[in-house]
Amino acid sequence: MARILTGIQSTGTPHLGNILGAIKPAIEMSNNGDNESFLFIADMHSLTQIKDGSVMRENTYSVAATWLAFGLDTAKTVFYRQSDVPECAELAWYLSCYYPYSRLALAHSFKDKSDRLEDVNGGLFTYPMLMAADILLYDANFVPVGKDQLQHLEMTRDVASRINHQCGEELLVLPEAIVQADTQLILGTDGEKMSKSRNNFINIFETDKALKNTINKKVVTDATPLEAPKEPEGAAVFELFKYVATAKQVEELAAKLRTGGYGWGHAKKDLLEALIEVFGPAREKYNYFMENKNELDKVLDEGAEKARKVAKATLKRLRSQIGY
Ligand code: TYM
Repeated sequence: MARILTGIQSTGTPHLGNILGAIKPAIEMSNNGDNESFLFIADMHSLTQIKDGSVMRENTYSVAATWLAFGLDTAKTVFYRQSDVPECAELAWYLSCYYPYSRLALAHSFKDKSDRLEDVNGGLFTYPMLMAADILLYDANFVPVGKDQLQHLEMTRDVASRINHQCGEELLVLPEAIVQADTQLILGTDGEKMSKSRNNFINIFETDKALKNTINKKVVTDATPLEAPKEPEGAAVFELFKYVATAKQVEELAAKLRTGGYGWGHAKKDLLEALIEVFGPAREKYNYFMENKNELDKVLDEGAEKARKVAKATLKRLRSQIGY
């Protein structure tokens, strides 16, 4: 039996990249046979960016509703808010004390974010240790993530090895990242990596009208006239279409664009229809949970209780080694 674990930050409503890169693969792995899984909302990580309590609360519900909308089975999964497990912050401190500053300074995500964000706080710098704590606290074996998290997983293994070496025993389990070849890097409306901070994301939970507006305004196309043949490969609208359409639909759209007489506007309409079709059921469930937040609170509270039991046992092992 393997233990699967992954988290999604509550920095907003999860976008298509989060859903295809992490949420769907994690749920598929969790629902698969003997696996045991810990899926959570990383609402302490999102404090590095969100300082408004009501926004934090709403985002946390939104991430919870997304997990459930995509089929997370609460009977099989430990499903919780990170902030309901304070043991995580305690472990993050211990890990920070075992990890060299010089290694933390090499984190790509810190460099990337500190170049783009206004609020460059200390939490952003020690972020990888909090993420390592999330994983090591539960002895996770496999961590399904997008490609951007691979370095964090390496740091997690690194700090765990250092502690194991220091203790002279396998106190912490070394986790393995799982990235899906086809969804490890979902591109956004401008053809770059989809991300909240680049504002090139697609929020599939918007109303049809808002989604149409997003696609029309944000998806970048060139000025090739409607009549002219167009190369679909590499065009943002076509790349997005490939994530959601069937192989046959993709082939048909490529042929129409290459023939000419089919504009980028037509392709955008096809993309909108595919998104609405594919995500219709998940959108309905999402809206249901966002209107019934008491149900979210209930499952998350139950999950936190289960998570804390495991977390406490891990900390007990470590505290004793440290000399507390
Ligand atoms: P976050 O919230 O930024 O993203 C959540 C997950 O979505 C993946 N992802 C993508 N995958 C493919 N294409 C994209 N464009 C794309 N954008 C985002 C991310 O790789 C991630 O898997 N640090 C984590 C949250 C976290 C975590 C953890 C994850 C906290 N503790 C422990 C795993 C285990 C993060 O920032 O994710």
